[in-house]
Amino acid sequence: MHIDILTVLPELLASPFEHSIMKRAQEKGLLTVQTHALRKWAVNEYGQIDDYQYGGGAGMVMMCEPLANAIEELSKERAYDDIIYLTPDGARLDQKMANSFSLKHNLLLICGHYKGIDERIRQQYVTKEVSIGDYVLSGGELAAAVLVDAIGRLLPGVLGDETSALTDSFQDHLLAPPVYTRPVDFRGHRVPDVLMSGDHKKIEDWRYEQSIQRTKERRPDLLD
Ligand code: ADE
Repeated sequence: MHIDILTVLPELLASPFEHSIMKRAQEKGLLTVQTHALRKWAVNEYGQIDDYQYGGGAGMVMMCEPLANAIEELSKERAYDDIIYLTPDGARLDQKMANSFSLKHNLLLICGHYKGIDERIRQQYVTKEVSIGDYVLSGGELAAAVLVDAIGRLLPGVLGDETSALTDSFQDHLLAPPVYTRPVDFRGHRVPDVLMSGDHKKIEDWRYEQSIQRTKERRPDLLD
């Protein structure tokens, strides 16, 4: 999978994909992530990419021309399955959405700033609008990093143990069960006996029960 990210702050996205699972995904050639500085397509020598909004009001709006030119130039390189705008008024990201994006080949992510991007770019180029939650970030970059991470770890071969993404929280609308490691006794708090029983069926049943109980307590909405 290839993901291009269009941003006014490429520096902010330098590190998130250079560690851990995202690093491994790229080393294995399963994922490539490329950031593109929107200022390359600025409307003048001052690097302008935003302007005052029509109708007045505080806050700048990202202009059509740099975005349209950038999208068109990048689209000549590869056909995008989706052009995704990260915005708090988009559809809320969940595991189902991440699963569905993980089946695509080429994605272009657009990070908004200030008051957002001109509506005409949303209408004419953007195919999906995604929010990572009901709160407002200073820009779309951190949201883009979250989206890339959620998608990247689902690509076949990225996780060492092929089954481990399948047992993540949310993958089957349940939260993950509690996990334990050594020591057996930590200051009087013991690991549940069943996990040391060696009985795989019993362990599986216990984990499933714990998942259900945890989901009921913390996220009953997931069980609806
Ligand atoms: N940009 C600013 N806030 C955001 C959010 N919650 N999700 C996606 N993009 C954003």
